[in-house]
Amino acid sequence: MTDDNKSQGGPSGYQGSSPKKSSDGRGARIAAARGVMGVIGSKLALDIALSKASTYSDLSARDRAFARLIAATTLRRLAQLDGVVGPYLSRQPAPFAMAVLLTGAAQLIYLDTPVHAAVGESVAALKSSKDRNDVNAAGMVNAVLRKVATEGKDAAAQIPISKNLPEWLRKSWTRAYGEDAVAAIAEQLSKSPPLDLTIKNKGEAEKWAEEIGAVVLPTGTVRKSDIGNIVGLPGFHDGAWWVQDIAAALPVNILGDLTGKTALDMCAAPGGKTLQLAAAGADVTALDRSAERMLKVKDNLERTGLSAKCIAVDAGKWRGVRDNDFDVVLLDAPCSATGTLRRRPDVAYTKSPKDVESLIAVQDRLLLAAARQVKDGGTLVYCTCSLQPAEGEQRIEAFLKMRPDFRLNPILTLGNDGEALGVQPKGWLRALPHRLSEHGGMDGFFVALMTRNV
Ligand SMILES: C[S@@+](CC[C@H](N)C(=O)[O-])C[C@H]1O[C@@H](n2cnc3c(N)ncnc32)[C@H](O)[C@@H]1O
Repeated sequence: MTDDNKSQGGPSGYQGSSPKKSSDGRGARIAAARGVMGVIGSKLALDIALSKASTYSDLSARDRAFARLIAATTLRRLAQLDGVVGPYLSRQPAPFAMAVLLTGAAQLIYLDTPVHAAVGESVAALKSSKDRNDVNAAGMVNAVLRKVATEGKDAAAQIPISKNLPEWLRKSWTRAYGEDAVAAIAEQLSKSPPLDLTIKNKGEAEKWAEEIGAVVLPTGTVRKSDIGNIVGLPGFHDGAWWVQDIAAALPVNILGDLTGKTALDMCAAPGGKTLQLAAAGADVTALDRSAERMLKVKDNLERTGLSAKCIAVDAGKWRGVRDNDFDVVLLDAPCSATGTLRRRPDVAYTKSPKDVESLIAVQDRLLLAAARQVKDGGTLVYCTCSLQPAEGEQRIEAFLKMRPDFRLNPILTLGNDGEALGVQPKGWLRALPHRLSEHGGMDGFFVALMTRNV
């Protein structure tokens, strides 16, 4: 078991001792296996795939978290798990039986679940299936998982962690960042992520960190080592903070105090950066194409007591009272989200190079629309939570060729922390997951700051 999983608390050592818990443990394992099948087979986001499992709606919050942990761990370690169970199989099991086998192996190798619970409940999950093939596979799964319980950890350790990355990502990241960086990124992405919070009043970071049992990172983000029950944490109902990875907080952090400035957040939902802009003192207009997601922005504004004008619209088509009207325009563009893999391991299976191709066209269109809204002398911030240079560096190079009235502004406001966080000689910021690994890493992100000539 890795330390990060140990720190997840509850689910580790989950035994299901009482009859009620026993059946919940089984329900969680069934949901986890169905979740893995939904991600890999149907390319669903993990949370959607989990929620479609028949057992999911009856699970307690704790068992849902356990189901998610098992499924996420399986997806993060898929090649290693496949490599461990593969040699024991004489033929490919039916999809659900295979998913139960992989999720069972994940519990044994990476979650330190007691053998009797991991094996017994996996077998029971198969026996409860309506499909004869699954029931028939129960004996084989029992035998293989018992082998995995004794030999699995050593066998898994022989398989490089970077094999867990889909080939297209491994290749493109190796081209962009080199083999050593990819190995370090893969290592970081194999772990459960910490909980990162942005504090509304920056001066209260230490106070909330102490109350929550967390630490303050160099940029002011408050980090708790495990995610746990977010709404139960001190300060949630007071709206004192919101959940936001340290990397996702950087695009607004670098802007400093925005008192008296107007800001346009072009792709705002669920609102992390809208909240930051408002907390920094800006008069914020927030756009998002999705009316449903915009409701989340409004909920977050209400909870935190911050304000912004929210408009559900295609930001590429939106026109304000006049063009060139905002001091700051932030484009947190829709992207492949390959930088968020440790929080969303499903992205490795649901996104493809084709998605990147079509997103690039959207990013270019939105960048030109964003440029139209920037005042002379104003600031344009472009960012994506992608590790694909095509969605970061290359978009900005292309944009600056099309719009010579904009110039790249080196990111200087991170001071001595800039280099460690990923500020590049060109002046933009390329956050990689293994940076700040001594603090638990960060999401992959790209940020560029540009100024419109006067
Ligand atoms: C990366 S997320 C934004 C995250 C957000 N900035 C935050 O910090 O919480 C991208 C958002 O872009 C929105 N989006 C996609 N295409 C859009 C468009 N043409 N106009 C406006 N919003 C769009 C999506 O609905 C999604 O909410």
